[in-house]
Amino acid sequence: MHIKEAGIGEGISEVIVTTRSASGEPNAAPIGIITNEDENKYFVKLYKNSKTLSNVMETNKLAVNVTDDAVLFVKAAVGNLNEAHFSLFAGLPVLNEANSWIIFESALIKKNSESFLFQLTPIALKINRKEVKAINRGLNAVIEAAILATRYVITVDKREKEEIERMMEHYTNIVKKCGGRREKEAFGILHEKTSS
Ligand SMILES: Cc1cc2nc3c(=O)[nH]c(=O)nc-3n(C[C@H](O)[C@H](O)[C@H](O)COP(=O)(O)O)c2cc1C
Repeated sequence: MHIKEAGIGEGISEVIVTTRSASGEPNAAPIGIITNEDENKYFVKLYKNSKTLSNVMETNKLAVNVTDDAVLFVKAAVGNLNEAHFSLFAGLPVLNEANSWIIFESALIKKNSESFLFQLTPIALKINRKEVKAINRGLNAVIEAAILATRYVITVDKREKEEIERMMEHYTNIVKKCGGRREKEAFGILHEKTSS
């Protein structure tokens, strides 16, 4: 299967993972897909207490949605996407706006106190469009800030919260200078979550 063609490459690819619960409720969250290029193997590390982890434990499947839409990433990070974003492929939710999606079967290979590691095997793939795009620092800053925001909402450490607020200032400046409309809108959503 042409995983590379669908946009997943060496290192860690940041995507939106969609899953469903045993009862069929869809969920979306930004997640990093780990590619071991030498061995052509794919992995995902899921932290405990996420809906994504409990869904993967229930169904042994996930869909990887490739997109560079800053707003989609942020909405999936701070809450969940509404039903209109999803359609079903073989019973699994995928994102309508994805540039491509790949459905993987998951096998649990390692557990530790904070996270579970799964190996992924592709079973279906669709490429909706191929885009040529230059690097935008505003988009990169939104993704970094989204990671910080997911940390901000779970940490109770006052010092860590202050450090995140300080780093968010730095990313604010980059988004203002380099971002387009989508990046600015996405950052606005994040900012609400990280200013107490
Ligand atoms: C860019 C990005 C990458 C992320 N990668 C991971 C990851 O690889 N594993 C993970 O467990 N959480 C990751 N997260 C955090 C989850 O998206 C976050 O905990 C989310 O709230 C989980 O949502 P859920 O409960 O709906 O599954 C990432 C967040 C961002 C913004």
